[in-house]
Amino acid sequence: MTDQTLNRQANWTRWRSFFERRKDRALPPLDPKVDYAMLPRSLARSIAIFQLGESGGGTIVAQARRSKLRGIDADYAAALDLFVKEEHRHANILAMCVRLMHGELISKNWTARLFVAGRRLIGLRLKVLVLLAAEVVGICYYSAIASRLPGGPMRHWLRELADDERGHLDFHCDFLRSQTQGVVRKRVFMAVWRCVMCAAAITVMVDHRKTLHDLRLSRREIWGQWMEIGRQAESRVIDPSSTVSRVLRQSSASLS
Ligand SMILES: [Fe+2]
Ligand SMILES: [Fe+2]
Repeated sequence: MTDQTLNRQANWTRWRSFFERRKDRALPPLDPKVDYAMLPRSLARSIAIFQLGESGGGTIVAQARRSKLRGIDADYAAALDLFVKEEHRHANILAMCVRLMHGELISKNWTARLFVAGRRLIGLRLKVLVLLAAEVVGICYYSAIASRLPGGPMRHWLRELADDERGHLDFHCDFLRSQTQGVVRKRVFMAVWRCVMCAAAITVMVDHRKTLHDLRLSRREIWGQWMEIGRQAESRVIDPSSTVSRVLRQSSASLS
């Protein structure tokens, strides 16, 4: 099946089966014998903040089910429901990371509150745009932290989370592309996206500055990666010649 053929078909059935195939992944086993005592305390706090951020998101599914937006259907709402459950699996894995580092989980944090406030602003489209910014942040941050960890379960888990976030990014891009047909809508999307993306990156930079410093991660390099992935996401949304998502293509190929 060619990319063009895949593009002409409605995406949501494929996204739904994409998430359905992954929904029964078990949590990895927790091995408390692995020693992470050498890791800075700031990292446990950082991961606890991301754990909190991965825990919410239920209201968007109800909104998608009620939505009358053109370009989405019941399969989209079902895929979004499975996506939220996948984020909750991430929250469970991050909680295991915090436990391995003898850190403490948290129930509130200003960046998590900001993110929730962003999602509650208005409409489904803006909510998904905020989620897209969170995926960009997650891909960069989980990969950057994994690059500084010794070999072992945490490094493996964080890389797997970053891979999952790449799939989520394509899923949200497909939704936003379905909602930004026409020049005016594309321009509005680009303006709002660039503001939200920069605001999310700055917020995380500030809140996690100690971890970045303690792990000797270059802020300039991370900023560059954030902006690059943000630009790629933008062109996936606005470029009419964008091909079908790599992750969907791979999962379609594995079925044929
Ligand atoms: Fe996640
Ligand atoms: Fe995600």
